[in-house]
Amino acid sequence: QNQSQQLPVDLEPEFEGTIQNISSPTGREAILTCSVKNLGRYKVGWLRASDQTVLALQGRVVTHNSRISVVHEDFRTWRLRIRQLRESDRGCYMCQINASPMKKQIGCIDVQVRCVPSAHANIRAQHA
Ligand SMILES: *[C@@H]1O[C@H](CO)[C@@H](O)[C@H](O)[C@H]1NC(C)=O
Ligand SMILES: *[C@@H]1O[C@H](CO)[C@@H](O)[C@H](O)[C@H]1NC(C)=O
Repeated sequence: QNQSQQLPVDLEPEFEGTIQNISSPTGREAILTCSVKNLGRYKVGWLRASDQTVLALQGRVVTHNSRISVVHEDFRTWRLRIRQLRESDRGCYMCQINASPMKKQIGCIDVQVRCVPSAHANIRAQHA
């Protein structure tokens, strides 16, 4: 046996499973779950895939969007939560580990736009 083969290796961070895509109507909340093992000294971030805007870094939200929060559980799970979904939230989100090379995983939210209930139209008509 060669000594160097017995030395502990530096574990690389890895994703556990894949982020599940979700489909949710406007007004509801959507949660994307990213699980990472062997994170070590690295950090996990959530970005909007379309424009690469950083939304959260570790457990901290960095975007000025009060509908967005991040929940960090079990040292390995980062959930991106978007409340009161809007049509503009539709798209893909990236869970990123700042390892070298950078690792990323994508989860997408499909926002279903509900038809405007006719009751609203009636109320508007009455107030007109
Ligand atoms: C031990 O193994 C490594 C890689 O397998 C090799 O590069 C190194 O030269 C070996 N060292 C000795 C002392 O045999
Ligand atoms: C989620 O949707 C994206 C884009 O449509 C797709 O590339 C990806 O494979 C999907 N992920 C899963 C887990 O189905």
